[in-house]
Order: sequence, then structure tokens, then C-alpha cells
Amino acid sequence: MPNDPVLVVHGGAWAIPDEMVNAHLNGVRNALAAGWTVLNRGGSALDAVEEAVVIMEDDDTFDAGRGSFLNREGRVQLDALIMDGATLRAGGLGCVEHIRNPIRAARKILSESPHVYFVCEGAERFAAEHGIPLCKNEDLIIPREVERLREFQARLSDENPDLFAPTISHDTVGSVALDGAGNIAAATSTGGTLNKAPGRLGDSSLIGCGCYADNESAAASTTGWGEPIMKLVLAKWSADRVAAGNAPEWVALEAISHLENRVNGHGGIILLDAQARFGIAHNTPRMAWAFKTATQESSGIER
Ligand code: GLY
Repeated sequence: MPNDPVLVVHGGAWAIPDEMVNAHLNGVRNALAAGWTVLNRGGSALDAVEEAVVIMEDDDTFDAGRGSFLNREGRVQLDALIMDGATLRAGGLGCVEHIRNPIRAARKILSESPHVYFVCEGAERFAAEHGIPLCKNEDLIIPREVERLREFQARLSDENPDLFAPTISHDTVGSVALDGAGNIAAATSTGGTLNKAPGRLGDSSLIGCGCYADNESAAASTTGWGEPIMKLVLAKWSADRVAAGNAPEWVALEAISHLENRVNGHGGIILLDAQARFGIAHNTPRMAWAFKTATQESSGIER
């Protein structure tokens, strides 16, 4: 391989409680292993980020795929985006309710549609027409999330409920990769925020907000409270600063400072360029992350 590959994944930025740390670490390590298998056999960055994200969508630990947060009507609504840094092709979908692995459908949009973005029933119809099986919404709902929504809605009558506290889970998942051919890619998938209004779309599936990839700048995936991230178009903000010559490690820290200082946001970011330089940053108490290069492998919940 002309280039040594790099893979970075995240599994959400929030105050991950002690009893959930192992599940988060196992989840991001499993995702890393799946993505690395692709890169190690000479596969593309695009395939690697898709496979890494599928593992986390399938893991009930995370707010993506089955086990996601419920919206205020008790339904799962999922958003995802995947982007190829070599071609700038992208596939995104929002507010889907009957797809177990939205990132697989996003990849089909990238590969097989002249369009970039689908929502709601149209997204599901496109997915079904391209071989993605549909499921019932109930198949995506787990008892933990029914109880979480019930508790949250009971607190809405409190005098000063902090509805966006970092103690509330933001387990959006994502991955960025560099492959042996020197191309980068990014993928992000989420169930969005707890008790969201039906039809609410967050940052994760919007190009340049929750996900971005361009070989000439960087690949980025964000996690956290989506509305502030969207206002700053944070993934593209970060990629632009890498293109201007700054190291991703520094830009990731700057992006999270900008998020906090400009719009009082909280969350995290993983950022990687085509020179194999990467950064991981968050301003939440914890963020699940893992990375692997030809010479190093690490994972953790604080950075
Ligand atoms: N970052 C996930 C969301 O706000 O939807």
C-alpha cells in the first residue's frame, strides 16, 4: 500500500456514566476492528467508515440505529451521512423510521443516486428499491429508551429543566478514515436528541455540519447537541482550517472551543487529513473514541 491507513471512530460525547463505560469502550473497539479489517486488506476509506458505523448502529449502547433516543411521540427517527473525500460524493438521509442501518442506505444514495439527500418516506422507498430491508419502528425501540423518555418527559414540568445538559446522552456515532490509496472519508449516524419534535433534523446528516470529507482539507465527524453544531457548520469550519495549513490535532481543539464560546454548545469531533494527521476533542465530561494506525492503537473515554 502506498500509504499507511488510519481509522478513527467516536461513539458519542456526554457524561457517560461509570456503569456504561465498558459498553462504550467495547463498542468503539469493535467498530475500529471492523473498519480496520477493510483498510488492512486494501479496501477504501469509504468502505471502512461504513463498516465501522454499521457496528455501532447495531450496538444498542449508542444513539444510532436500534436503541436510539425516542422522539416526543415515542418513535425512533434516524439521520445519517457518508462522504467520499476523493470525489466529494455524498449520501445523506433524514427522519427515517424503518431502516436498521441508515448508513448503508446513505452509502447507496452516494453510489447509486444523482441526488445527495433523501428524507422520510422517499428515503425509505429509495432504500427498499436498492436492496435495503425495511423494518418496523418498534424493532428499533428498546425498553431502556422507553423508560428514559418517560423520565425526561416527567421532568419537563420542573421549574428549570436543563434539557440540553451534557449529562443527557449524545451518543451519535461516527468514523473518519484514510486508506492506502491516500483517500479520506467520513460517516456519521444518529438517532438525534431525546424527546425531539417529529421531523427535527440535527447536524449529523447535514454536509459540513456533522460530517464532511475532502482530500484537499480533512474528514470530520461531530457528535453532541446538534443545533449549535449546525449553526457553526462545524465539520466544514474545521476542514477549512486544516486546508489553511493547521494541524488537525490543534483544529479539533479550536473547533470545540469555538462551539463553546460562540454558541454555548457541547460535543466532540474527530478530524483526519490525507497526511494521516488527526485530532480528537470534546468539551463534554467524556467521549468514547478509538483510533488505529500502522504503528499505534488506542481507545478511551476522555481526551
Ligand atoms: N448530534 C446529533 C443531533 O443533535 O441530532
